Amino acid sequence: MSDYAPSTKFADQAVGKAALYDEAAADHEGFWAARAREYVTWSKDFDTTLDWSDAPFAKWFVGGELNVAYNCVDRHVEAGNGDRVAIHFVSANDDDDRAITYAEMQREVAKAANGLASLGVEKGDRVAIYMQMIPETIFTMLACARIGAPHSLVFAGFSADALRARIDDADAKIVVTSDGQFRKGKAMPLKKAVDDAVAGTSAKKVLVVKRTGIDVAWNDDRDVWWDDVVTPASDTHEAVAHDSEHPLFLLYTSGTTGKPKGILHTTGGYLVQCAYSNAVVHDLHPETDVYWCTADIGWVTGHSYIVYGPMANGATQIVFEGTPDSPHKGVFWEIVQKYGVSILYTAPTAIRTFMKWGHDIPEGYDLSSLRVLGSVGEPINPEAWRWYREHIGGGDTPIVDTWWQTETGAIMNSPLPGVTELEPGSSQAPIPGIHAEVLDDDGNKLTDPDAVGYLVLTKPWPAMLRGVWRDPQRYKDTYWSRFGPDLYFAGDGAKYDEKGNIWILGRVDDVMNVSGHRMSTAEIESALVSHDKVAEAAVVGATDPTTGQAIEAFVILRQDAADAADSADEGGELVTELRNHVATQIGPIAKPRSIMIVSELPKTRSGKIMRRLLKDVAENREVGDVTTLADSSVMSLIQDGMKSSG
Ligand code: WT7
Repeated sequence: MSDYAPSTKFADQAVGKAALYDEAAADHEGFWAARAREYVTWSKDFDTTLDWSDAPFAKWFVGGELNVAYNCVDRHVEAGNGDRVAIHFVSANDDDDRAITYAEMQREVAKAANGLASLGVEKGDRVAIYMQMIPETIFTMLACARIGAPHSLVFAGFSADALRARIDDADAKIVVTSDGQFRKGKAMPLKKAVDDAVAGTSAKKVLVVKRTGIDVAWNDDRDVWWDDVVTPASDTHEAVAHDSEHPLFLLYTSGTTGKPKGILHTTGGYLVQCAYSNAVVHDLHPETDVYWCTADIGWVTGHSYIVYGPMANGATQIVFEGTPDSPHKGVFWEIVQKYGVSILYTAPTAIRTFMKWGHDIPEGYDLSSLRVLGSVGEPINPEAWRWYREHIGGGDTPIVDTWWQTETGAIMNSPLPGVTELEPGSSQAPIPGIHAEVLDDDGNKLTDPDAVGYLVLTKPWPAMLRGVWRDPQRYKDTYWSRFGPDLYFAGDGAKYDEKGNIWILGRVDDVMNVSGHRMSTAEIESALVSHDKVAEAAVVGATDPTTGQAIEAFVILRQDAADAADSADEGGELVTELRNHVATQIGPIAKPRSIMIVSELPKTRSGKIMRRLLKDVAENREVGDVTTLADSSVMSLIQDGMKSSG
């Protein structure tokens, strides 16, 4: 037996059994109908499992009605589990640590729902949430779900401009935020970005949680304190059932153009797949496990695997406000030891960082409570996988490498920890109920293990996106046209190995993956070009040992700016100015690692920038085929510039 096969002991107690694969293969819709009734409480049962007659616009669990907040909170209290801890909030300020039971959660969500309603939020209204990892963010999301007002979370690291674009696109009625957030022990402003973003938008109210107590500007007509509206509100609220296809949330993600897409998820199918996958992939036993997903709630991983999946299952989990290195580099392991974390779900970029810091740090803690480890966000290199298994998992803990996307809503490819013989570095195969294949350019399934193709989802799945907000054409063009109207093109390159495992090879479009976050080259280019000194910009993702990819920019200055930079030798200052400009336009996560000022960019005769060549430069490789360039001397100019700038 391989070292990577599950132990009998683990397999015997596992939630996900091999029989699920057979059941799903025998009857796709029957399988999901059974999961829907197993994992979710319906106020009204559905009559049709899947309506795909208007493909690619899907309807799942048609005719069914449910309330997501009831499923995530109230039903656990009704089942007698009100005293179970829902959240151990671990704060960046020790004094603020608190445990919130499901019974308390029920009251907090009810208050938030009543508070939002008193501000005029009704079913169907969009609510923008610009808030860090604090319990109020979860209360607000569930309150929105309860009312049927779709939320749109905007990661608290995004800039005011990025926030404004998202408020505008969704026509959000209100923004929920906090005065500030703790970052590495310091209170940093947050509401300030909202002040800069909301003027002139559809958002007429701003609801503000007092988190840090720092000074904030106040607009009496618009701003209200959480403590004045939510805290005193009634702690009971009736959860009305919503249609299975009622919109649950929007989440914006970068695509191949400059404009982020509002990915739409709906109620029934999303909740079913989140709950089911969390149970079988993470092997969640809600009565005994302490679960910790380290993602930020502002990304899809936080939506599906902090809020909706685990809470639908009645999990006890950690919500951590801090960063892996604050207050010290052992803080993750300190939390695992203190709370007895048994399931840890994190990202390759974090694992590689821990590796860099050295295994003596985790060795200082008792990690024996861990029994399942997960990875998400980008391919995990086998070396990091083995380190994770050895130094965090004690050599025998199953690792589930989960491939999925904002659009898929929930986990698609992953081993089942009690069934699958693991393969380090590969997310292996679709979970039961999911159908994924690797196809070649012509849409044929690959047979040769050395060939490279595209990852395609060949059957609709319950948590699939239902569209791009207000842009049905973009939905069709982006996902459902490359291989045909009912084959979903994920945008990832992939291949099979000899054993039939699927390996994800990264994006095939102009999308980068930086620390597990999706970044669009076009979006950063347009941010750079919006600076008055920049004429043209090209951005590529270059391999980086820690973050997976790093953002590298090449910029052509406008003539007057170029002359000034030359004469004053202020290239360095200008680069700093441009990096900061990108941070204001999008957010600090989008700052290029380096910016190179060039006089030309490599372009084809039709004027398309050849990013492939710039990538070669950024990764210090010999530059590939330049014969399609309009001017083949451009690359030597850029490379000379690279050498002289060190
Ligand atoms: C893209 C989706 C899934 C939530 C976090 C990111 C890459 C994600 C894996 C994995 C290889 C992965 C893909 C995908 N990706 N997980 N386990 N192995 N690649 O969500 O921002 O929507 O990005 O992340 O390239 O398309 P996202």
